[in-house]
Amino acid sequence: MYKFPKDSKLNDPKFVFGVATASYQIEGATNVDDRCPSIWDTFCTKPGAVYKQHNGDVACLHYHLYQQDVNLIENLGMDAYRLSIAWPRIIRPDGSINQKGLDFYDRVISALEEKNLTIMATLYHWDLPQYLDDKGGWLNRETAYKFAQYVEVVSSYFGDRIDFYATLNEPWCSAFHGYRDGKHAPGIADDKSGFQAGHNLLLAHGLAIPILRKNAANSKHGIVLNFNPVYPADEFAIDVANFAEQEHTHWFIKPILEGEYPETVYQHYIDVMPTIEDGDMGIISAKIDFLGVNNYSRSVIDQDGQYPNYKQVHLSDVERTQIGWEVYPDGLLKLLTDLHQFYQLPPIYITENGAAFEDKVVDGVVEDEQRCRYFQNYLSSVDEAIRQGVDIRGYFAWSFMDNFEWSEGYKMRFGIVYVDYKTQKRIPKRSALEFREYLIARRSGF
Ligand code: FCB
Repeated sequence: MYKFPKDSKLNDPKFVFGVATASYQIEGATNVDDRCPSIWDTFCTKPGAVYKQHNGDVACLHYHLYQQDVNLIENLGMDAYRLSIAWPRIIRPDGSINQKGLDFYDRVISALEEKNLTIMATLYHWDLPQYLDDKGGWLNRETAYKFAQYVEVVSSYFGDRIDFYATLNEPWCSAFHGYRDGKHAPGIADDKSGFQAGHNLLLAHGLAIPILRKNAANSKHGIVLNFNPVYPADEFAIDVANFAEQEHTHWFIKPILEGEYPETVYQHYIDVMPTIEDGDMGIISAKIDFLGVNNYSRSVIDQDGQYPNYKQVHLSDVERTQIGWEVYPDGLLKLLTDLHQFYQLPPIYITENGAAFEDKVVDGVVEDEQRCRYFQNYLSSVDEAIRQGVDIRGYFAWSFMDNFEWSEGYKMRFGIVYVDYKTQKRIPKRSALEFREYLIARRSGF
């Protein structure tokens, strides 16, 4: 069982433990109840875009198996569940509301309420309706206003039943993988597009916040950002590492918390900077109640010619997960304490942290000892960050169960619950049982 010092804040039942998922990665049922296609349905058909051309058509069939999944989340002793709501299930191409989509999330939310689970819902976890991509997707400023309309529909319908609303999941990935390096849907690789998509995403976030406040006054509203703490490869790489950190970490958080983009990056990329209209930065920096932090690994940065050109270095002899990401728990501590030092932060929730390994079912059990170690060590970093003054209120493991890992398809298993995709059987891995043991002990005061 996971173990922390006796006086750890994690041991206080008020510290929220949960598991996280996202709609396209688990739901399947992509043609059911009039769901519209999303950019990921399209991207998955592009040769070479996704491992073995896997797609989310079936995934974990959560659309039909949600009740047993909610039972299992409760059974693991969790306090909370972070899900995402699929925009293509809610708003039709003509802008009208698809009641069947709202009904599905109503069923899920009711099931969670029945188990007294705290609910965090992400409003956009990458499944943009294809009909909006046909009009330019996130390159089109209008998409931000379409998002605001969708948020109005969802939040006026569910109101305070959702405890935490997160506007976007990882705009860095949506913008930079989706439009700058082309690794994710819609697969555009162009610097200017990357920055423009990023700005429109942040605008969408900012437009949504007052709507959420109006419709769910008692809920908390925020955003989920992904960060890789940046380390210089050696003493000569300190300046470029700082630049890389400005470009990747601060480019997304600074406008939200301080209403401006980092100047050094702005100047360096002046030719590809987004169109920013008067008033945008004020909208983007609307006050948020919490910041969701996603972290898995770190980046080691070295010079690549003249400043500020840099490259990412892949160190040998370090522990890596199946997806190739370095296991570096100290990085999470550095990330949290650095952010705390740079910004006036709202309360923080770790909204994703976890690891993919090649899990094997042997005699009906999955002994994922490496993942157990990963959680123990990363959670110890969270404990230490709290001791150093960072206001962290909760932690969500990624993921509740194995699922469709975007361009890696079903090859990468990030779940604490194993999914047998042939039978849709769920098998809690050792890492899940350790959570269960810890959380049950915590509830009874150890
Ligand atoms: C994050 C995504 C999440 C999952 C993990 C492994 O970037 O938010 O959906 O794929 O990575």
